[in-house]
Amino acid sequence: MSAAPDNPPAANGRTPEEQAARWEWIRAQTPVMQRLTYLNCGFSGARSLGVAEAMDRRAHLELEEGPTTRNVMDDKMATMTRLRELGAQMLGADTDEIAITGNTTEGVNIAVNGVDLKPGDRVVTTSIEHGGGMIPAYWARERRGADLAIVPLRHDDGPGAMIEKFDQALGDRAAMVIVSEISYSTGQLLPMRQVIDMAHQRGATVIIDGAQTAGHVPLDLHALGVDAYAVPSHKWLCGPDGMGLLYVRKDRIADIAPVKVSGRLAAEWDHEGDFVPKTDDVLKYEVSTMSTPAAAGMVVAIEQYLGHGPQAVWDRVRGLTRYAEERFERIPGIEIRSSRQTDMRTGLFLFAAEGLDATELAPWLWQEGKVVCRSVKEAGAVRLSLHVYNNEADVERTAELVERALKEGIMSTGAGGRPEEG
Ligand SMILES: Cc1ncc(COP(=O)(O)O)c(C=O)c1O
Repeated sequence: MSAAPDNPPAANGRTPEEQAARWEWIRAQTPVMQRLTYLNCGFSGARSLGVAEAMDRRAHLELEEGPTTRNVMDDKMATMTRLRELGAQMLGADTDEIAITGNTTEGVNIAVNGVDLKPGDRVVTTSIEHGGGMIPAYWARERRGADLAIVPLRHDDGPGAMIEKFDQALGDRAAMVIVSEISYSTGQLLPMRQVIDMAHQRGATVIIDGAQTAGHVPLDLHALGVDAYAVPSHKWLCGPDGMGLLYVRKDRIADIAPVKVSGRLAAEWDHEGDFVPKTDDVLKYEVSTMSTPAAAGMVVAIEQYLGHGPQAVWDRVRGLTRYAEERFERIPGIEIRSSRQTDMRTGLFLFAAEGLDATELAPWLWQEGKVVCRSVKEAGAVRLSLHVYNNEADVERTAELVERALKEGIMSTGAGGRPEEG
């Protein structure tokens, strides 16, 4: 393990040197970075020691004291409350607008299926959605007779072109918009503020898939005005699998019905027929028992992210992407397939290499150089996720391998073409 400081400087008012020390610290605290070049947080983020220790601590508490002992139950309640509070802080929301879920897709499903939709109502989504948003949209068409409009977006569209396309697709009767704020396949940050305003003018509910945003771009959901927003633990936040958060704006909680229900929905009930459901309590979206070790890990993941400083993270990851753009554009045969526009660039960098199948190149990078990244088949590109535990040397190593692949060609690893989902 490197000799980075144990106590990193606080987030506010850091000098550039202190900020650089913070990135070195998190790199040193992320064990996989000592072994290989991990560039895949858009799929699942590299965990830090702090996250793993929090999960261990809780698992050992259950092991040694038993899961239902008073002290252990109190710890569970405190962990879940802290998670909702920190989630609200990170999202720019109030704690009573946050439900704990299992992942982004679950949150999107709760919101999409909870909105009252009539046959023929228009649902708008885009051509650059992940299955986590796209399949609930198709399901709304299949099961509820929605009129589905798919906005055709391209990686080189600017915000103006996107807004125009959304405007057309919304028509005058859109009822729902399902869209990811950062696309997994183009890396673009979409102009959500304008899209939300346009959708609200038509009376549509806007549900955002934030799988690629939490832990990546600073979020202020109250300022955004969105109706529902789902995020995961395991991507840019680098928390454990199996946890996520769903934000539902306070004034929408009553009319977005839960699709799976448990005792948390009931204000009162008995076995003789008395049942009074809660309406405006966000906890109605949570279903029964959840994993406390995972919640404890997500708490630390959010604490670490807030400790880095959301704006500092955002500046750093886009700085790394700019570095990658400059490095890769000097390689003959490379076409950059993520957005290069300042207001759309993110920490997701995508490129195509002439004559090389991206679904073969990504596993070859792993086999030859222990670079972990993924291909995005729909984009015909390899995707590098550049996070704050990465640095310029990671980009350089990857670029050199790609140069070699272009010069010498690659042998198939046998893994090409296999579906990738993250
Ligand atoms: C945009 C987007 N939405 C949804 C998902 C699925 O996320 P989760 O596993 O949290 O449901 C992903 C995963 O890659 C994604 O990139």
